[in-house]
Amino acid sequence: MRLTLRLFSSVVQKRPFYVTTPIFYVNAAPHLGHLYTALVADAVQRFEKLTNPHYEIIFSTGTDEHGTKVQQAAAKANLSLAEYCANISSEYASLFRDFGVEYTDYVRTTEERHKKAVRHFWKELVDRDFIYKANYSGWYSVNDESFVPESHVKDEVRNGETVKVSLESGHRVEWTEEINYMFRLSAFKNDLQEWLKNDGVITPSKYQKQLQEMLENSTHLPDISVSRPASRVHWAIRVPDDEEQSIYVWLDALVNYLTAAGFPAARAWPADLHVVGKDILKFHGIYWPAFLLAARLRPPRRVLCHAHWTAAGVKMSKSLHNAVCPRAAPAAAHALRYLLLREATMAQDANYSETKLINVANSELADTLGNLASRCCGAALNPRQEFPALHAQELLQCSLNDVTVRLLDAAERMPDLCHTHYRNYQFYKAVDEVIHVLHLANLFFETHKPWELRKQVENQKHLDVILHITMETLRISGIILQPIIPDLSTKLLDKLQIPKDKRYWKDCERPSWKIKGAIHETKNIQSGKFVLFQRIYTDKNNVQKKKASA
Ligand code: ME8
Ligand code: MG
Repeated sequence: MRLTLRLFSSVVQKRPFYVTTPIFYVNAAPHLGHLYTALVADAVQRFEKLTNPHYEIIFSTGTDEHGTKVQQAAAKANLSLAEYCANISSEYASLFRDFGVEYTDYVRTTEERHKKAVRHFWKELVDRDFIYKANYSGWYSVNDESFVPESHVKDEVRNGETVKVSLESGHRVEWTEEINYMFRLSAFKNDLQEWLKNDGVITPSKYQKQLQEMLENSTHLPDISVSRPASRVHWAIRVPDDEEQSIYVWLDALVNYLTAAGFPAARAWPADLHVVGKDILKFHGIYWPAFLLAARLRPPRRVLCHAHWTAAGVKMSKSLHNAVCPRAAPAAAHALRYLLLREATMAQDANYSETKLINVANSELADTLGNLASRCCGAALNPRQEFPALHAQELLQCSLNDVTVRLLDAAERMPDLCHTHYRNYQFYKAVDEVIHVLHLANLFFETHKPWELRKQVENQKHLDVILHITMETLRISGIILQPIIPDLSTKLLDKLQIPKDKRYWKDCERPSWKIKGAIHETKNIQSGKFVLFQRIYTDKNNVQKKKASA
């Protein structure tokens, strides 16, 4: 009894930190863009864990399995809906796991717990009179699973035929007239405008401004349809007490965030962060907060919106068949993970190419980071296989050339700068900073010519200082890079024999030479040849690709 109570109290004391990805449509296999969103969310939660080890992380992802789009895809694949959804859903789950996405919950909208949450949520909206029945007509895009207002539709010639398409997404729309349940979105214009005044509620601010403008420019915010006739959309959750109507797939999907929070109990609500792509900003920045306010729940604390990955300049997408399969990349998972988090900015689209992947991974992971680690840990320059101790005295006695001063200075400032970049979700800046310091560390190592120092016994202390500073820089870099390349960081920190409980953010804040007195004892490192990251080899024609097996 006592034990149970103790366990219980330790659980309830933890502050939950709740981060989500969108749940992805199962109309096709996952591609690099979906993986990217999951990696961003994963990097955020890993950083949070490093800086706040006392947080209980809730990290949910999953799949969006209802609606016309999925109905059509299953028919095309000639599979039962249940089988089709299960197959694609498990592809997402296994892809995420293979790329180190440490989700704690995976919501499938076909699960019973989710259906219960959706029905409960629907009833809350009905009870508060935010839902009414009406005759509805308008343009519908199956691809976006969205009604599109007349003002957002244009004519376009496709395959010699004039068709209507959505201005926003370019997807085809079709005319639809049906009886629907409507949601009183119009009642929330002021509340939404108030919510959107909160600094940083949508990050980066450019997306927050877009939403603000969207609201300002619409004299009146139209109500939206939140159901479809079950005769048209049978693969869906039925409206409670009305078998003839199916709940609109976006309302169904958005409620997944509550499902994972334990709704109706909703212990972990509001969510701390929804990570989404800019294609679904309106659903998360207008519809979702309005639904939540209508149900008397708090809107999310923040929505982090990111731009798109393109291939040859065009948005990668399932429907355009230009998507890159992450598993087909010519490199190990951690190289692709590194590229995606290291290249993309939240506000601007980024273009993917294999050449870029290979160049970045080889030059930064293999050369700048890996090679430095191999050299200072290798038996040639470090025959005792140690991470030698450093005493301030010795440091002062060594010739402090210009490069040394620059390295020490940059390594001291790096953790603070990177902390700010991570907090601002500017992963590329954090990585830039680490790579900059590692360039200096390489230069420092070169200019001190450790291979000459090791020839004379009297230079041993000097050599120890060089090894120590280099390894200390690697230790700090390894800790900082954990959210970006968790596996490689672990490999590096294991090599340096850094205990698992000394890999938190606080452990990298001050380099050893800033701590007074004897800094740490000499420690053994894991002996043996060390290759952190195997270069990716390609010949001129890019024919022979060697899988990185680091
Ligand atoms: O919209 N670049 O699912 P979806 C970057 N089920 N990210 C990309 C991308 C690209 N080229 N392509 C897709 C849905 N994404 C709904 C969501 S949530 C309650 C329901 C990512 O399968 C990005 O996060 O179309 C985008 O928002 C999401 O995948 C859309 O995935
Ligand atoms: Mg989509």
